[in-house]
Amino acid sequence: MEHTLAMLRKYEQLGFSNLIASPHVMVDMYTNTPRLIKKQLAAVIKSSEAANINLTLAAAAEYMLDEGFGDLLENNTLLPIGDNRVLIEFGFYASPFNLDELVFQIQAAGLQPIIAHPERYRYYFRDITDLRNLHKRGSSLQINLLSLGGYYGKRVAALARQLLENNLVDYLGTDAHSIDHLQKIEALLNDRKVCKLIQSHQFKNHELLSA
Ligand SMILES: [Fe+2]
Repeated sequence: MEHTLAMLRKYEQLGFSNLIASPHVMVDMYTNTPRLIKKQLAAVIKSSEAANINLTLAAAAEYMLDEGFGDLLENNTLLPIGDNRVLIEFGFYASPFNLDELVFQIQAAGLQPIIAHPERYRYYFRDITDLRNLHKRGSSLQINLLSLGGYYGKRVAALARQLLENNLVDYLGTDAHSIDHLQKIEALLNDRKVCKLIQSHQFKNHELLSA
């Protein structure tokens, strides 16, 4: 909680007003349930109010499309952002073999997928056709703020820019796992080139607040 409050103070200082936390859900590793996430959110809200932190907080989750995901979808135990958006991520080295089928199933369940940090997946470095097709078929893309500054390497930064140039990016996320990430974001926000790049694109983050 101490670390969380330190992060929230930093977010406030950076000018954020609303946050949607998205803790990982991965089979056998991060078995966060909607119930647990909501319980922890309530505890964080209580502590942040007591600490006079002026932020509106919400929570959803970031779902790895692993062998556990099908059950979560089938049992209707996903925690969406707003009513129907669900944040999903893939393995960094290989995409799920049944990706198209899973995305179709998510959409058939009335949910709209948001693909987390597509710029970090190596298998899209050379060719964005698959991402273009996913976007065309109704998946949204969210890139990480730190990707633009080269935090994850040059190729990730290049792909993030390419996706922006092709108007395929819907949302910008911090993906901050620690105060350390927020300090790096703070430094990045002093980088004129990166700020210009961010300001020249229309992100839809605000739509998630009323979703
Ligand atoms: Fe992720």
